[in-house]
Amino acid sequence: MYKKKSNQSLKDLNTFSMDVTAKKIIFVNTIQSLIEIWKICKSYNLPYIILGEGSNVLFLENYMGIVIINRIKGITIQEKKNVWILHVFSGEKWHDLVKYTMRIGLFGLENLSLIPGSVGSAAIQNIGAYGLEIKHICEYVDVLSLERNNIIRLKKNSCQFSYRNSIFKHKYNNGYAVIAVGIKIKKNWKPIIFPILLKSKKIIQINAYKIFNIICQTRKSKLPNLKKIGNAGSFFKNPIVTSQIAKNILSTYINVPHYLQKNGFIKISAAWLIEKCNFKNIQIGDAAIYKKHNLILVNKKKATGQEILKLAKIIQKSIFKKFKILLEPEIDFINSSGKIKLL
Ligand code: FAD
Ligand code: EPU
Repeated sequence: MYKKKSNQSLKDLNTFSMDVTAKKIIFVNTIQSLIEIWKICKSYNLPYIILGEGSNVLFLENYMGIVIINRIKGITIQEKKNVWILHVFSGEKWHDLVKYTMRIGLFGLENLSLIPGSVGSAAIQNIGAYGLEIKHICEYVDVLSLERNNIIRLKKNSCQFSYRNSIFKHKYNNGYAVIAVGIKIKKNWKPIIFPILLKSKKIIQINAYKIFNIICQTRKSKLPNLKKIGNAGSFFKNPIVTSQIAKNILSTYINVPHYLQKNGFIKISAAWLIEKCNFKNIQIGDAAIYKKHNLILVNKKKATGQEILKLAKIIQKSIFKKFKILLEPEIDFINSSGKIKLL
C-alpha cells in the first residue's frame, strides 16, 4: 500500500533541495492507493500535488497540502515484428529504464541517459537531449482520470508533444495522473548523431554503449552534481523566435548558438544570452548561476525559493532589456496551495 509521514521536510524530495515542508507526504505504489488519497484530499478540500523525483519544480514556500510521491513501478515488454513495446509505469526512474534497456540489449534510449526524474514526468515534460525527445520514442501515454477513476490511453499523436511541452501540462493537468508510458524501441538500431559525438574519438565503430558513456561523461562534466548542489537543470527554455528576430541578434553577435526549427523559427541558446549579460558572480542569498553553465540556477546551500525566483527575475529582465526576448521558465513553481504561473 502506501507509507504516511506527517509534517516531513520535502528537502530530499526536490532536487533544488528547498527546505520546505508539506502537511503530509505520501508515497504511493499502486493506482488504487493514488485514487484513495485523491478521494481523501477531495473530501477534506486539501490541495495535493503529484511528484516524481522533484527535479523540475521550485517550492516557493511550505506546501499546505498533500504531496503524493509516485512510486508506481513495473515494466513489461511486448515483442512485435520490427519493434519492442515497453509498457513502463510512471513511477520508474527514467535513467534506471535507460540502463535496464541497455542491459537487456534494447537500444535507442541512450541519447537520453542520465536525465533525472520519473518516466511519467518524462512524457509530461517531453524530455529531450542530444537530438532525441520522448516524442520520438513514445507509442502512447496512459492517463488516469482521478474523478472518473478510468484510464485513458492517448496515442503519441494525441499527446500534443512539443519542445518541453505536452497535453499533460494543459488539458490533462488538473485531476489527472500519468500512470504509464508506452515506449517503442526499433529492432534495427541506428545511432542518433549529435555534435559532441562527432568530436569524440569513440565515433569509430560506434555503438549504443559508447553513446551512453559519452553522454554520461559529458553531462557529469558540465552539469552540477545533484548530491552536492541543488538545481533543476535548465531553469529557462531556449527561446524559439522568428527568423527576423534571430537575424537581428545574429547581425550583432555572429556566434550565437542557434538551431533552425522545422517551422522556420529559430531556437536560440538561452545560456549564451545569459552569459552575454555578464552577471559575473551575482548571488541572491545562496541562489546563484552555476559557474559552468549559465542556464542552470543553483542553491549553493540554504537558498529559499523566493531567492531563486528573485535571481530568475533579474535574469529575465536583463535578457529582455538587451535582446528583447522573454525567457520562459522550464520548471514548475509551487506555492503553498499548488502550481502557479510566474515569470
Ligand atoms: P517532478 O519535478 O517530480 O514533476 C514535474 C511536474 O510534473 C510537476 O508539475 C508534477 O506535479 C508533475 N507530475 C509528476 N509526475 C506526475 C504524474 N505521474 N502525473 C501527473 N503529474 C505529474 N530535462 C530534459 O528534458 N533534458 C535534460 O537533459 C534534463 N537534464 C536535467 C539535468 C538535471 C541535473 C536536472 C536536475 C534536471 C534535468 N532535466 C532535464 C529536467 C528534469 O529532469 C525533467 O523535467 C524530468 O522529467 C522531471 O521529472 P521528475 O519526476 O523529477 O518531475
Ligand atoms: N553555452 C553558453 N554558455 C553557457 C553554457 C552553454 O554559451 O554557460 C552554449 C554552448 O557553448 C552551446 C549552447 O550554449 O553552444 C548550448 O549548450 P548546451 O549544449 O549545454 O545545451 P542547452 O541548450 O543549454 C539543452 C537542454 C538540456 C539538454 C541539453 C543537451 C533546454 C532548456 N536545455 O541545454 O536539457 O540536456 O540541451 O541536449 O533545452 C533541461 O531541460 O533541464 C536540460 C538540462
